[in-house]
Order: sequence, then C-alpha cells, then structure tokens
Amino acid sequence: MASAPFELKGKSVYVAGHRGMVGAALARRLAREDVKLVTVDRREVDLCNQAAVFDWFARARPQVIFLAAAKVGGIVANNTLRAEFIYDNIAIAANVIQAAHVNRAEKLMFLGSSCIYPKLAPQPLREDTVLTGPLEPTNEPYAIAKIAGIKMAEAYRSQYGSDFISVMPTNLYGPGDNYHPELSHVVAALIRRFHEAKLAGAKNVVVWGTGTPRREFLYVDDMADACVHLMKTYSGADLINIGTGEDIAITEFARVVAGIVGYRGEISYDTSRPDGTPRKLLDIGRLEKLGWRATTSLEDGLKRAYAAYQAAASVPAQ
Ligand SMILES: NC(=O)c1ccc[n+]([C@@H]2O[C@H](COP(=O)([O-])OP(=O)(O)OC[C@H]3O[C@@H](n4cnc5c(N)ncnc54)[C@H](OP(=O)(O)O)[C@@H]3O)[C@@H](O)[C@H]2O)c1
Repeated sequence: MASAPFELKGKSVYVAGHRGMVGAALARRLAREDVKLVTVDRREVDLCNQAAVFDWFARARPQVIFLAAAKVGGIVANNTLRAEFIYDNIAIAANVIQAAHVNRAEKLMFLGSSCIYPKLAPQPLREDTVLTGPLEPTNEPYAIAKIAGIKMAEAYRSQYGSDFISVMPTNLYGPGDNYHPELSHVVAALIRRFHEAKLAGAKNVVVWGTGTPRREFLYVDDMADACVHLMKTYSGADLINIGTGEDIAITEFARVVAGIVGYRGEISYDTSRPDGTPRKLLDIGRLEKLGWRATTSLEDGLKRAYAAYQAAASVPAQ
C-alpha cells in the first residue's frame, strides 16, 4: 500500500459539508491539528452550482479538501429520491474535484460509501471488487454517483498527477445524525423509535425488514480520525475502506440500542419493508496496514450518540 507523509500543519483545510454528521466530526478532529479550517455555508455556495463553486474556490483557494458534502439518506430516501441522489452527488463531486484541480489544491479526499460494492460481492468487501457486478438496486443512483466521484479522483491522479484519494466508509453514526422518521439511517431510526416508545410506555416497537441482515457500524469521530490519518499518510489510486472489521445482525443490534435507550418492551419485525443487502462488512486490511484501527466500542459509541440525540432534541433523560 502506497504510503506518503503529507504535512497538514499550517495548511488551509476546507471541509465540504461541515454542518453534516461527518463534516462536523472532521471539524472537531481538525481542531486538534495546527490548520486553518475553511468552511462555507450552503446558502452561500450550493455545491451543485458549478459557477458558485468555481467562484468560491478561486477566492478561497483551500490547500487541502475533505469532500464530505453529499445528499445522504437511508434506504427509503435512496429508493424514492433517486433522481436527486444521482444528480446532486454527481454535481457535487464533479464541481468540487474540478475546482480543486483548477486551483491547484495540494490534496483532496473524496468520501464514497460501502454502497459502491456489488450487491453479491464476497464478504468482507474488498476494495478491488468495485465494478465487478450489479449494485443493490435500492441505492443504485447514489452508488453510481459515488463511483463517478471515485473515478474522477482516479482520473485526475493519472492524467494530472493530482494527489486525490478516495475512502469508503461503512455505516456511520453519532452526534449530528439525521433523525428524520422516514429518511434516516438505521442507527438514528432505532434510537429515535426506542426513545419515543420508552417515553410513550409502548409495549412493542416495529423494526423494518426481517432483522437478519448484518451490518457494520463505525462511530463518526473514529471515522474523522481515520480520514485525518489517511490524509497524512496515504497517497494512491487504490480505494481505502474505513470500518471496524466487525458486523452484527440487526436483531442483535436492535437489542443493544434498546438496552442503551432504556426501552424494555418487545421488538417485532415488519417483513414487508425492504432489507437491502444481506450483509455489508468491509475488509479493513488496507486500512490496518496503513496503521489505523477504530477505538470506540459499539456500546460507548451508541451511548454518546444517544446522549447527543437527547441534547439535540432537548428531551428529558430517564
Ligand atoms: N452517514 C453514513 O452512514 C455514511 C456512510 C458512508 C459514507 N458516508 C459519506 O460521508 C459523507 C458525509 O455524510 P454525512 O452522514 O455527514 O451526511 P449529512 O449529515 O447529510 O451531511 C451532508 C452535508 O452535505 C451538505 N450538502 C449536501 N448537499 C449540498 C449542496 N448542494 N451544497 C452544499 N452542501 C451540501 C449538507 O449541507 P446542509 O447541512 O446545509 O444540508 C451537509 O452539511 C457523504 O459523502 C456520505 O456519502 C456517510
């Protein structure tokens, strides 16, 4: 695995998507580095707007870029807002990567997703399985847009010698997650549902799907730490997965979340809802070789995520 020390110290570092869950975690993590953090509000620069992005980059000229802005959502959002997911994510990647190139940014990290791997690729998912088979249909538009971003980073590296790298995070959770009842990811959805059921004294909580799929979950501050580590130490065209290397069945995961939230009722499963990919675990061999491992346990991460949810919602802790 190519390894190249890159100095962040003293650089202007742009986090695209700084108000999002990952972007905010990156900003927290970068506060511990000697860098000048640069951000711009979406109301000022819509990253889908090429002219606005090019204009802002020409003025701000960030030296380092973490591209953590994207249209993101759970299975329902991905499956219903298909046009928005492909358009926004292609536009954001195309505009920011081209602007970084034109303005001679020193380094850029593109954040992809584990959804880019074929639905039936062997588990754990190795980086070299990208584009070897059909994608999970429910999030295909999002995955295609992410693959376009990865291929852009790769092409700019090969044609222009740009130091653009791509990382593929597993499912993330933590402070700043999206708790929308229909559009959230599984961790936020479960925290909210168990919390509301606890407050309402409900006897049963229905979880979508069969509960049999297995998923891997990474605490978002670990993710930010991995991104900073890779920004400093990795340079190459190969993708790098970011995960914990461990997965858990949704049935078991739901019990863990219920325990942390303090919900003591029953949990049942709505099998009419889609399951998505049967298993999604990343092979983290490359990441480990580059010297990084997650440090936050699932229990600790979920406790912090639940505390952040309660603080954000200003709901009473019980
Ligand atoms: N969450 C996960 O489980 C997960 C897993 C794998 C990969 N990822 C990747 O990690 C990255 C960050 O995800 P996240 O979970 O932090 O998502 P998030 O919380 O939804 O944050 C996304 C950010 O992107 C910004 N954004 C979206 N469209 C924009 C636009 N047109 N112009 C300007 N800003 C725009 C949003 O701005 P506003 O706040 O103004 O809306 C928000 O700050 C994404 O690339 C995602 O694909 C996430």
